[in-house]
Amino acid sequence: MPRPIVEITHVQEFSAAHRLVSAHLSEQENRELYGPCFTDHGHNYSVEVTVRGPVEPETGMVMDLNRLSRLVVERIIARVDHRHLNHDVPFLKGTITTAENVAVAFWDELEPALRAFKGCKLYRIRLNESRANRAEYYGPETAASRSSSRSSSRSSAKTRSAKG
Ligand code: NI
Repeated sequence: MPRPIVEITHVQEFSAAHRLVSAHLSEQENRELYGPCFTDHGHNYSVEVTVRGPVEPETGMVMDLNRLSRLVVERIIARVDHRHLNHDVPFLKGTITTAENVAVAFWDELEPALRAFKGCKLYRIRLNESRANRAEYYGPETAASRSSSRSSSRSSAKTRSAKG
């Protein structure tokens, strides 16, 4: 009998400062585009990390959520919590710190570490910037197809690739 495929999600919160500024635009253009987000401000973010895979009959789990939690803290939270995303986080260097770009960067930090866990795969990074605004990233290979098949059923922002 085929093993059921299940998605499991771990959620962590962090607080960070950032500002939105594009090197491709003049100061005036940046101000007009980003408005109040052009100046330093902060968010109480939450990041939802979803892993997908078969339920192992021996353990009843897709992946040990405690191990996933440790990975998320180690790879992401410890490096962004109470930091300025534009200045203090090496893996965001040169990135416009929109929710879209930060979600993609989180994927790139976490996905290699999850390859060690046989069978399961990183499925989605959802970054909630506030109650109103969030971005979701499904990885480089499947992003285009998922984006088109899901866009009608969800209202949240979809991220296909890094963009400003
Ligand atoms: Ni902001």
